[in-house]
Amino acid sequence: MHNVTDIIPGLKERIDGLFAEGGERDVILKTICEWMAKDMPHHDWVGFYLVDPENDQMLKLGPFVGAKTEHVFIPFGTGICGQAARTKETFVVQDVTKERNYLSCNERVKSEIVVPILKGSKLVGSLDIDSWTLSPFTDEEINFLESLCKRIADLF
Ligand code: SME
Repeated sequence: MHNVTDIIPGLKERIDGLFAEGGERDVILKTICEWMAKDMPHHDWVGFYLVDPENDQMLKLGPFVGAKTEHVFIPFGTGICGQAARTKETFVVQDVTKERNYLSCNERVKSEIVVPILKGSKLVGSLDIDSWTLSPFTDEEINFLESLCKRIADLF
């Protein structure tokens, strides 16, 4: 099994460096996806959904790492991503078979976490992580992802 306690500090440090370097937002987001998918053994699909500039009730797929998904546009309220967009709160689903309002991307996925990215009180996007492991998300990781999304909000 993985031990996120050992992995998170190094990852955090590299991400801090990435923010300090600056650069284009989508490049930074893609790099974060790549690093998390590589370092966190249970991150099997890592991506960002951003609020569609043409429709503020719609999420649009942004930078991601992992298998291609048919869910490029997700209306607010639909699936785990759309529900988190509506509540603006982190949505942790440790077992996707227990969630009825769920959009399946890949049958190997067992769990998912969606963390909203808020600019003030306005939703600008969300971080979505799918895992092939059941119940992998610890409080420590959830805190890490939430503070990461607070930093990411500054890019918007
Ligand atoms: N499972 C998500 C859809 C997006 S994919 O995981 C990439 C959901 O239920 O919103």
